[in-house]
Amino acid sequence: MLAGRIAVVTGGAQGLGEAISLRFAREGCDVVVADIRGEAAESVAARIAIETGRRARGLRVDVTREDDVRALFDTTEAEIGPVDIAIANAAILIAEPIAEADAAKWRAVIEVNLVGNFLTFKHACRVMMPRRRGCLLQVNSKSGKKGSAANSAYAASKFGGIGLVQSVALEMAPHGIRCNAVCPGNLLDSPLWTDPEHGLFAQYLRAGKVPGARTVEDVRRAYLAQVPLGRGCTYEDVCNVLVFLASDAASYMTGQAINVTGGQEMR
Ligand SMILES: NC(=O)c1ccc[n+]([C@@H]2O[C@H](COP(=O)([O-])OP(=O)(O)OC[C@H]3O[C@@H](n4cnc5c(N)ncnc54)[C@H](O)[C@@H]3O)[C@@H](O)[C@H]2O)c1
Repeated sequence: MLAGRIAVVTGGAQGLGEAISLRFAREGCDVVVADIRGEAAESVAARIAIETGRRARGLRVDVTREDDVRALFDTTEAEIGPVDIAIANAAILIAEPIAEADAAKWRAVIEVNLVGNFLTFKHACRVMMPRRRGCLLQVNSKSGKKGSAANSAYAASKFGGIGLVQSVALEMAPHGIRCNAVCPGNLLDSPLWTDPEHGLFAQYLRAGKVPGARTVEDVRRAYLAQVPLGRGCTYEDVCNVLVFLASDAASYMTGQAINVTGGQEMR
């Protein structure tokens, strides 16, 4: 659906960002995989190039550093070509009960998730505006629309993300640039959840987010029980919507934040 386009994906070295990078290449895009872990980004890009035959490049980028983000877009334009699609996906999550939350960690979450998205969109707009076309996509979360106990930094960053998307959409509409978000449910098999030390199953157990939960399995069961469609979210569920939003089929959509949650946001 996206033949011949050029896409930049932040946080593309693992998890959902890796899946998005591969899927957009399969849909016909050349892809730049940007991540703070440069070597991991390069190896993901190398695999995508072999699997899809598209051009793919990995770059080390810290989305909180404006020089890095500026260089990401300038390098892509100079070495790959004009950027059509920019996907702000990089994020971190540090869950702590509010009365114990560490202010430096709280700020770090806002810095990566919100300021990082702002810088990504700023420099994407800079290169897209003269061409009067482009597509900005944000990977948000159901926590961008509904508060999340013991997880205030993440939810605040994601609520802020929707304000950013709506504001950029309004400002960029006359310039031919659309800006939308996708709000996934819980990708329960992704490393964000399953990492034994920093993963959300472990973090939520430690933070006492699920009353009565004694093991990570208890946490998993509690999250599955919240989903009307009865299963966790998958990378494919999210990529299907992102590809649609990036395509011409969504040419009349801007400023939207689309839930992909199996109905969970209704509970
Ligand atoms: N996993 C889920 O259940 C879930 C649910 C809803 C929304 N999301 C959202 O999906 C997106 C991807 O999440 P994921 O589960 O793949 O997470 P992940 O932790 O597996 O991957 C995030 C990637 O971002 C990179 N990154 C972190 N800080 C960075 C920085 N400063 N600069 C550049 N790259 C940086 C990491 O190195 C990593 O490769 C995030 O926006 C997240 O909020 C995830």
